Amino acid sequence: MKRVITYGTFDLLHYGHINILRRAKELGDYLVVVVSTDEFNWNEKQKKCYFSYEQRKAMVEAIRYVDLVVPETNWEQKRTDVHKYDIDVFVMGDDWKGKFDFLEEEGVEVVYLPRTPEISTTQIKTDLNKK
Ligand code: CTP
Repeated sequence: MKRVITYGTFDLLHYGHINILRRAKELGDYLVVVVSTDEFNWNEKQKKCYFSYEQRKAMVEAIRYVDLVVPETNWEQKRTDVHKYDIDVFVMGDDWKGKFDFLEEEGVEVVYLPRTPEISTTQIKTDLNKK
């Protein structure tokens, strides 16, 4: 069984999120999604989520491609997560291209998938503010 992992905030869930989760799952048989906590978003990215971690987790869990959702609380956990969850493939959108190549040292394949054009949580917020 091939096990895949990916990370994100997944606030205001949109079709770009669904697309990346579908393509991540296609790379294996079991998909772990690591969702950033509210504290991690605020402390590390100065970003306030619209939906709470528990709400975002519940929505990501309801997606058919997703097998397990766990919290992201710090930048360093990727190195240990890949062993903890026995991961074969690490997947991120290509906005992160090259940033996580160091995980190959841990024995996992690192894949960057092209982002879905013209949609993001930030874009949704900006567009709604204009209306
Ligand atoms: N993603 C994607 N295509 C998009 C938007 C996001 O493939 N149009 C991917 C990202 O590359 C990442 C995952 O979805 O691997 C989670 O991204 P996240 O940062 O939660 O979503 P964004 O919409 O990019 O949010 P923000 O605008 O706050 O950065």
